[in-house]
Amino acid sequence: MGMNVTGKNFINGEWKDSFTGETFESTNPADISEVVGVISRSSIADVDEAVKAARDAYHAWRLKPPPKRGEILFKAAELLVNRKQKLGELMTREMGKVLPEALGDVQEAIDMSFYMAGEGRRMAGETIPSELPNKDCKSLRVPIGVCGLITPWNFPIAIPAWKITAALICGNTLVFKPSSYTPLCATEFVKILQEAGLPRGVLNLVHGRGEETGEYLASHSSIDGLSFTGSTAVGTRIAKTCAEKGKKVSCEMGGKNAIIVMDDARLELAVEGAVWGGFGTTGQRCTAASRVVVHEAVYEKFLEMFVRAVAMLRIGNGLLEKTDVGPLINESQMGKVLRYIEIGEKEGAKLAIGGKAYREGDCAKGYFVEPTIFSDVRPHMRIAREEIFGPVVCVMKAENLQDAIRIVNDTDYGLVSAVYTQDVNKSAIAERELETGIVYVNASTIGAEIQLPFGGTKRSGFGHEEAGGRGGALDMFTKWRVIYRDFSGTLQKAQIDR
Ligand code: UN1
Repeated sequence: MGMNVTGKNFINGEWKDSFTGETFESTNPADISEVVGVISRSSIADVDEAVKAARDAYHAWRLKPPPKRGEILFKAAELLVNRKQKLGELMTREMGKVLPEALGDVQEAIDMSFYMAGEGRRMAGETIPSELPNKDCKSLRVPIGVCGLITPWNFPIAIPAWKITAALICGNTLVFKPSSYTPLCATEFVKILQEAGLPRGVLNLVHGRGEETGEYLASHSSIDGLSFTGSTAVGTRIAKTCAEKGKKVSCEMGGKNAIIVMDDARLELAVEGAVWGGFGTTGQRCTAASRVVVHEAVYEKFLEMFVRAVAMLRIGNGLLEKTDVGPLINESQMGKVLRYIEIGEKEGAKLAIGGKAYREGDCAKGYFVEPTIFSDVRPHMRIAREEIFGPVVCVMKAENLQDAIRIVNDTDYGLVSAVYTQDVNKSAIAERELETGIVYVNASTIGAEIQLPFGGTKRSGFGHEEAGGRGGALDMFTKWRVIYRDFSGTLQKAQIDR
């Protein structure tokens, strides 16, 4: 019991086993015989304790000047820089994405930490003239209080950093429940923040399954806000719970993102973009390009080039330099992807390449699926409508730009879209008409930068956007306090005194 636990809870400044002493293993999805760590399996008692610690720490943290909070984040960013390589390697072992992408994940956390640290000296409100004499008006950002953060496994450090650094700079205290598939990455990130000087209780970490800890955290009567990234099904449930309990909530959820390839596009560039968007992170990004909508005049040519490029991709352990595509995260995701491939075949889509589990050599030990392309996909098919979250791309035909935009918008999701065209007029129309939160022109669907808001429309997002920029995460993690100060010494009536 509790022996060799490498992923403990972190509550009120102390690393500790869960109340029950139970554990679970974090294994390498590229080789499931490798146990990466033994983790405290928590329950509601651990969540209760963490929420209490965050509540107790809140008043002191709220009053710490934001530039001082920022100094801790600057320090954390430096520690991340120093440990980038090691963290990247751990991430590849724990989650499977290829090392260059794992390093990119850490880099995104570095960028976010520096950015939010700087926010400590900005975070501006407004001062605005009053309609009455001897009266002034201003708005201030104030923290929302104790926040629960629930994060997924596909960006094991970047997404926690999006939420944690933003929430901290704003003056909130936190209970962080990372995915039970990437607990060690989360643990290392929390260690860095602790070393950077966070006071005890400001950031608390509880490991465990979503059903046992996450959903309880989201419904906890003593939190004030909840930020979630994960599936649309869970996010919708969480948003509902939070609405009922009157808590501020933000959910980043699924996507069914599409790339449009016009007849004037540079096809080599579009193919590279489709490969990167479709098969980067083995398709396990909420920003993955799972549909490519191609103008009929270049459809056959594009498809042939795309299939040829995908045939070159090497599947394997993400720590090996030659690997392009790593494993899926777990057995159930692998099963889901294979089921969708079957569904696609039954629906009448044509399997252009891939379609099977991949078990060559060492890959037999992990959750590998061949990069898969379906062609002749029709908009009504389930594979064109439902999020697969794996290495499966649907290629669809469009008659012209209007038709392509209609197909892309015809979905329940609205996170990202992209258009490849050399025509500035077509680009302008696409930018205006595509209904997603993010639109790329002559670039793939993945690779959002942290200094702009990140989030989607429709079923992709609920509540506030994440990351930086106007309308980004500060809007989730603060509330506006508006101050009217009357120094006239008389009773003045707005709207009435004329
Ligand atoms: C996600 O897939 O959940 O734009 C986040 C991107 C990354 C973030 C993805 N910067 O693909």
